[in-house]
Amino acid sequence: MASIPALFDLTGRTALITGGSRGLGKEMAMAFAEAGADLMIASRSLESCSETAAEISAATGRRVIPYACHVGRWNELDELAAAAWDQLGGVDILVNNAGKSPLYDHIANVNEQLWDSVIGLNLKGPFRLSALLGTKMYERGKTEGRRSSIINISSIAAIHPTPDVIPYTAAKAGLNAMTIGFAQTFGPHVRVNCIMPGSFRTDISKAWNWDLVDQAMKRVALRRVGEPHEIVGAALFLAGDAGAYTTGAVFTVDGGVPT
Ligand SMILES: NC(=O)c1ccc[n+]([C@@H]2O[C@H](COP(=O)([O-])OP(=O)(O)OC[C@H]3O[C@@H](n4cnc5c(N)ncnc54)[C@H](OP(=O)(O)O)[C@@H]3O)[C@@H](O)[C@H]2O)c1
Repeated sequence: MASIPALFDLTGRTALITGGSRGLGKEMAMAFAEAGADLMIASRSLESCSETAAEISAATGRRVIPYACHVGRWNELDELAAAAWDQLGGVDILVNNAGKSPLYDHIANVNEQLWDSVIGLNLKGPFRLSALLGTKMYERGKTEGRRSSIINISSIAAIHPTPDVIPYTAAKAGLNAMTIGFAQTFGPHVRVNCIMPGSFRTDISKAWNWDLVDQAMKRVALRRVGEPHEIVGAALFLAGDAGAYTTGAVFTVDGGVPT
């Protein structure tokens, strides 16, 4: 068996993290670089990705490439996948993290544009990127024995749907199901898993009603929201050899939300 530090070592590996400029994505990017990986981080804002890439590079000495892409647009994903594969020299880890959950005042006011954009970013984008990069990962695993991992960032909203984010809960539930399907598609060479975060203090949380959140936290086992860095342990486990026998798994990092 590999040494314990080796189980979490990503030296010589490469990762593409969507939504890697802020929030949970940035924390995972920093952690993967600290563990030795070179990265590409992609979001809509090249400026924001460039700032984060420079910060992570300065802190870790790893190569971090910024890339501008709207992950909800099918026709931008071929280019993103090709750029990541070419510029990183192959991709070992894909983290489908970019996501959003716009609120609405009434279900009847959810229009087609909102529906399409939520499904596009949270479900269609991860599908297309996994299909493109997973196929390449699979082929490289078969020919070179390279170990690859896809990590989807879903949400506990997938299993605890609330009235204010129904399109989002549907997209994330789809992402959970897709995780299991892709694990079967790309096994045994690519592992595909999903993390369902609970409430984390990121930019998303700025729009929350904190009186309601504090009330909800009374039912959560750890009695508080998560801090962004607390996603990192699960992501490192799934990215590297520590998770070598884990695939098709969908699990919570939510401080203990009751079922
Ligand atoms: N925070 C929570 O409480 C929580 C709970 C459950 C699940 N999650 C999930 O965790 C993931 C990360 O959430 P977070 O809280 O870290 O969010 P965040 O702080 O708002 O960051 C979102 C990231 O995604 C990028 N992004 C947004 N729309 C995009 C698009 N159309 N194309 C490409 N990139 C896009 C953003 O960059 P740009 O703005 O530059 O595009 C940013 O880098 C999401 O999938 C979210 O659904 C979060």
